[in-house]
Amino acid sequence: MHVLKVSPGSSNYNVYIGPGVLGEIPVRLKRSIAGKRLFVVTNPAIFELHGFNLKEELQREGFEVGILMVPEGEEFKSLETAGRLYTELASQNAERSTPILALGGGVIGDLAGFVAATYMRGMPLIQIPTTLLAQVDSSIGGKTAVNHDQLKNQIGAFHQPSAVFSDTFVLKTLPPGQISNGLAEVIKSAIISDPQLFSLLEHRMGNMLALEQKTMDAVIIRAAGVKARIVNNDERDKRRRNILNLGHTTGHALETVTRYKINHGTAVAIGMIIAARISLKMGLFSQRDLGRITSVITAAGLPTSIPDASVADILAAVRHDKKISAGRLKFILPVGIGKVIISDRVSLEMVAQALEEQA
Ligand SMILES: NC(=O)c1ccc[n+]([C@@H]2O[C@H](COP(=O)([O-])OP(=O)(O)OC[C@H]3O[C@@H](n4cnc5c(N)ncnc54)[C@H](O)[C@@H]3O)[C@@H](O)[C@H]2O)c1
Ligand SMILES: [Zn+2]
Repeated sequence: MHVLKVSPGSSNYNVYIGPGVLGEIPVRLKRSIAGKRLFVVTNPAIFELHGFNLKEELQREGFEVGILMVPEGEEFKSLETAGRLYTELASQNAERSTPILALGGGVIGDLAGFVAATYMRGMPLIQIPTTLLAQVDSSIGGKTAVNHDQLKNQIGAFHQPSAVFSDTFVLKTLPPGQISNGLAEVIKSAIISDPQLFSLLEHRMGNMLALEQKTMDAVIIRAAGVKARIVNNDERDKRRRNILNLGHTTGHALETVTRYKINHGTAVAIGMIIAARISLKMGLFSQRDLGRITSVITAAGLPTSIPDASVADILAAVRHDKKISAGRLKFILPVGIGKVIISDRVSLEMVAQALEEQA
């Protein structure tokens, strides 16, 4: 088991990574929390695959376990669901000190995290991410959120977990496509600041897609490490944390214009290629490294061509993106494999050109 230390702002916690980490949870919680009660927020499919065992093992250690079930789907990451969870917590006399365990992907992590952040102004939160995306990205850093009307992830709070347990073995039950989806964020982490992770992906993508345990563990430890280092320096959204948005400006625009028909990983993958193309045009990036990025994305099973959407619509969505400040785009550009800059010299015309070249 690998232990990663995260210490954003005044808090600090461990991220435990490895196969079988789920089995460590009961004993570690027994040592670290005072009470006997806890709540697990999850969905029925994840509960059946991994939650049932966890519940039994927690009970064996003497815990009283309440299961709070949320239906499957991003549409349930909402204020309505949060409201229902508050009601259940209140009816079961949950206290401010009762921990919430978020067992699931980013949807469960964000929703349970939001409830833990707000119920009685903050309950302890334990993240148990079960998707690749959640293990390398959403479970670390303390961002929690729900969606509301057109506002995706815009109603939220910062609430750091007291621990993160990333059992890499549970990824074996993921539905097809979810590994590729998470790999987009892994590739992003490599381009931002880990050239060794990038070459690991270049050499071992086949093993990764075959869910070979050693490769999965090595990749997840490195990618989670990148996220941890960045949030350590910068708990809230300013300055360096922005670099985590590589590929996300164009990516969010693509998600909007396709009405979320393409998944987040696909959108980010294309967004990263657009950023690399812009950087190439500005003389900051090499054709060879653009080729390397494109190859790794393809090897990860992610598409590289723009989905059926007009460049004009994509640009309109980029313009509305929250990252435009004072009329200027704030764009994250790769300047090598493992290094990015935040640039305000990118114009919408440059984005349009890159989109046309990639189409
Ligand atoms: N808070 C952050 O910093 C942050 C960062 C990135 C993304 N997010 C959010 O994360 C969400 C996406 O998360 P995701 O990609 O993990 O998707 P997800 O949570 O929807 O999970 C994907 C699917 O896999 C299923 N699943 C999860 N674990 C499983 C397992 N081990 N075996 C079988 N099935 C399993 C889920 O039920 C779901 O159907 C979005 O809402 C996004 O906004 C948050
Ligand atoms: Zn993302």
